[in-house]
Amino acid sequence: MGWFTADIKTVDDLFMHSLQDIYYAEHQIQKALPDMVAKASDAELKKGFSAHLKQTKGQIKRLQQAFKKLKEKPKGTKCPAIDGILDEANDIASEVDDKMVLNAALIAAAQAVEHYEITRYGTLAAWATLLGHSDVARLLNANLKEEKATDKKLNGIAKRKINKKALARRKMRPDRVERMENAALVAASGIPAI
Ligand SMILES: [Fe+2]
Ligand SMILES: [Fe+2]
Repeated sequence: MGWFTADIKTVDDLFMHSLQDIYYAEHQIQKALPDMVAKASDAELKKGFSAHLKQTKGQIKRLQQAFKKLKEKPKGTKCPAIDGILDEANDIASEVDDKMVLNAALIAAAQAVEHYEITRYGTLAAWATLLGHSDVARLLNANLKEEKATDKKLNGIAKRKINKKALARRKMRPDRVERMENAALVAASGIPAI
């Protein structure tokens, strides 16, 4: 079913299509997050991505409950928007060599994902309320709240340190860059430095 085709006749159809769209998107995000955890070299960022992976699994469960309440089987429909955002994130990440600049790129990519999810869940929760599915709206609002909190958290990490560290690399000598990267990798791995 594509957007604006004859398959979508009513707002109920539109709502179901959008629910399937976010269900697909959450699965793609669930697949992409382990790679982001692996690529992040800042301990706090790594932890943040790991926590959001766990949260994403919970969000998928809430969506399954929403389908159940609507007496529908959980089903995804291909969402080119999230595929595009994740493809771009992959492309950018593979083009950035410097670890600190990569952390900044990873946060930017993750925030693009969060903003996508926020707009989808905002609309879905509003439509669920409009259609009289208040219990489904509650589930969607729970996911929306988590996405907003994640976006805020990522924004905080970026502003407080990651962007500054990425900027600082412009003025650094290559040997100092290497020392900083090694220290960051040790911190991110959780293994105490010797
Ligand atoms: Fe999500
Ligand atoms: Fe998210």
